[in-house]
Amino acid sequence: MAALQMVNASKRYPGADGESGSLALDGFTYAFREGEFTALVGRSGCGKTTLLNLAGAMDFPSSGEVWIDGQLTSGMSDTGLTRLRRTKIGFIFQFFQLLPTLSAVENVELPLLLSGAPHARERAMERLAWVEMAGFAGRMPHQLSGGQMQRVAIARALVHNPKLLLADEPIGNLDTVTGNMVLDLLRRASSEHGATVLMATHSAESTAIADTVIHLRDGAIEEVRRTACAC
Ligand SMILES: Nc1ncnc2c1ncn2[C@@H]1O[C@H](COP(=O)(O)OP(=O)(O)O)[C@@H](O)[C@H]1O
Ligand SMILES: [Mg+2]
Repeated sequence: MAALQMVNASKRYPGADGESGSLALDGFTYAFREGEFTALVGRSGCGKTTLLNLAGAMDFPSSGEVWIDGQLTSGMSDTGLTRLRRTKIGFIFQFFQLLPTLSAVENVELPLLLSGAPHARERAMERLAWVEMAGFAGRMPHQLSGGQMQRVAIARALVHNPKLLLADEPIGNLDTVTGNMVLDLLRRASSEHGATVLMATHSAESTAIADTVIHLRDGAIEEVRRTACAC
């Protein structure tokens, strides 16, 4: 079974003044295999963020289907959706989106506390150690560099061992060296933890670490390129 399957998924946002609006995603069909690392590329406005939001059940298609680990997102109850997001999905953003009033370790443990999972602090510390940030556990986000904040955000996204790791321009706000470190962590999230990773990116170099590169244009697949390491 695919970790994530999208079948003819389209998304139309309402336009201003009740107009029909633009088609941000246009009949997207693809099955993302378990553990596959996919880079989503294409110019600004081609639908990358829209696709990630559908993949994370943060939003729903106007038509078509999105299946996350065998569950159809449309029509699920709010409770079911919350559970799905809290157990199966990790999200990483360009601007990190750490909660500013919580320390690094408190940010990482929050998803576990919200879902009532045991040993939250211990597991959060393990994940911080994995991203080499254990020594910064008590720091507040404003006391961290961009790269350090993104590593904390990766620890937070992985703390509950999600099946799907969704990263929206995760290195867009980082310098090259720091960005490469973040890319390495995302690659290892896939190879060591078996996460299925979807990463939207502007950077052509960052696609080198992906198994598959999907080029989007106007909300549709323009090209799918599989690298040698994909099976
Ligand atoms: N909330 C929204 N309301 C209306 N239009 C939107 C909204 N979000 C995105 N769009 C439009 O949908 C298209 C795809 O946007 P997006 O998915 O953000 O692309 P990308 O992430 O590749 O830059 C764009 O034309 C954008 O203007
Ligand atoms: Mg975007």
